[in-house]
Amino acid sequence: MKTIVGIAAAVIIAIALGFGGWLYLGRDPMSFAAGSTVSLADYKDASVAGVPKEIAGAELAKRGEYLIHAADCLACHTAPGGAPFAGGFAFNMPFGVIYSTNITPDKETGIGDYTDAQFLAALRQGVRADGEHLYPAMPYTSYTYMTDADALAIKAYLFTLAPTRAPAKQNQLSWPFNQRGLLAAWNAMFSPDERFRPNTGQSPQWNRGAYLAEAMGHCGECHTPRNVAYALDNHSKFAGALTAGWRAYNITSDKNSGIGDWSDEDVYLYLSTGHANGHGGAAGPMGEATDNSLSYLVADDARALVSYLRGIPAHATELPRTVTTPASASHKEGPTAAEDLRGEKIFAGACASCHDWTGVSPVTGYATLTGVRAVNDPSAANVAQTVVNGVDRTIPSGRIYMPAFGEGYSDDDIAAVANYVTARFGAKGAHLTGKDVADLRKQAAQ
Ligand code: HEC
Ligand code: HEC
Ligand code: HEC
Repeated sequence: MKTIVGIAAAVIIAIALGFGGWLYLGRDPMSFAAGSTVSLADYKDASVAGVPKEIAGAELAKRGEYLIHAADCLACHTAPGGAPFAGGFAFNMPFGVIYSTNITPDKETGIGDYTDAQFLAALRQGVRADGEHLYPAMPYTSYTYMTDADALAIKAYLFTLAPTRAPAKQNQLSWPFNQRGLLAAWNAMFSPDERFRPNTGQSPQWNRGAYLAEAMGHCGECHTPRNVAYALDNHSKFAGALTAGWRAYNITSDKNSGIGDWSDEDVYLYLSTGHANGHGGAAGPMGEATDNSLSYLVADDARALVSYLRGIPAHATELPRTVTTPASASHKEGPTAAEDLRGEKIFAGACASCHDWTGVSPVTGYATLTGVRAVNDPSAANVAQTVVNGVDRTIPSGRIYMPAFGEGYSDDDIAAVANYVTARFGAKGAHLTGKDVADLRKQAAQ
């Protein structure tokens, strides 16, 4: 009996250790790449960190401005309608609400008293000036790969801004999640706390792309699924995840469920302008990422990102292959089941004028739905979010606008039209209920 208990205990411990080890191994976002790495100081092939050569001679704060765009600090540190970088943006986590804080140089409520060392610790180790741990909603596990010089250029830029007085909002977290001290254990397991190491087996362009994607643009924070401990699980790197009620799609090189069959030019255009013909526009959080961040990258940097994305190993997920042919011009053909009628009616009244029954917009190429991932995603999360929130983006060539229907339409209406749109233009119709839409709204609420 004793031996059986002993063996059972040994097996349980082995499984627990194995599982822990497996989680641990998932924390390195660049371990997929073949080749060996060297320290940045020992890498002579090209400059991997820093700003592009066009502005290499600019003053520190100017370089910081380029880098702060690349790292997109604005997106999280600005509340809707609030002062830039003054914090107060809400993150609805499964265990409560966390607010971003004020990173303008206000001495009392912002980071005006942060020393360089304190700023580096906040950005790369997740420790704030008073020594408390930050929640990983602040993506220090990505920024940890940033160089001292780049982080301090960002600080120099922030310190040129007008200080805004904005005290931190109170987080709403239940026990034990309100215990910041516990994050020390989490960090030991999941925070790499190391600087970027170029890979000599890859091209200089790939290395620049890796630096921009991992240390700066933190693509994985949205596109990589999380494990049970809420850490990024790089076993499924970039394979897609739900983030604040939006689906950040699979961007691995898988041809069906990822972006393996996009041309380099399409990926480049999508990232640098937020739109690529045949693939639609970047809506929601990705629209913010392109408009506030990626569109500011010089062409060489955007191409470096493309080069890095191309090398991400294919990871097949359950997204069906995208339908690339337009739907019928007649509303009588297409989804006609009884449960589709409500959606069809809404589509006829509110959507068809811009999107057409075929999905090929008669108004602007931006509104073409044929080939767009969102309508081919049977969860219909992004279709529902887009209908609720609308689209209002300003790009160099003008304004891209779709009205927000969230106020005027009930959750049941939105579910019905989302189900109809995915059935009509996509590979597989969704089955959202009004309650699902209410949940999606809640997850995205700020
Ligand atoms: C994905 C969202 C997100 C992004 C992007 C982000 N932050 Fe944060 N940041 C947060 C959140 C949330 C907090 C507060 C966390 C907490 O209270 O534990 C925070 C806290 C901080 C703090 C601590 C301030 C204090 O004393 O409370 C600093 C400094 C900071 N961020 C700097 C930056 C900089 C610089 C960037 C860009 C390089 C950046 N953040 C990008 C979410 C983000
Ligand atoms: C704040 C979250 C967030 C961040 C950060 C982010 N993405 Fe996205 N991404 C999304 C969402 C959400 C979508 C879906 C947009 C839509 O439905 O229009 C998306 C869509 C995409 C697509 C199109 C996929 C398709 O099949 O249509 C590409 C390519 C992409 N992202 C690349 C990137 C890269 C590269 C980075 C880092 C430089 C990045 N994203 C950072 C949230 C994010
Ligand atoms: C005034 C014109 C207009 C109307 C009306 C309109 N849309 Fe749009 N819609 C657009 C434009 C423009 C875009 C492209 C946005 C972009 O490129 O970011 C778009 C994008 C979309 C997308 C793609 C979102 C993504 O994640 O990529 C969906 C789905 C969509 N609309 C559904 C609808 C539905 C359903 C209705 C009716 C309830 C509707 N639209 C009404 C103009 C419109």
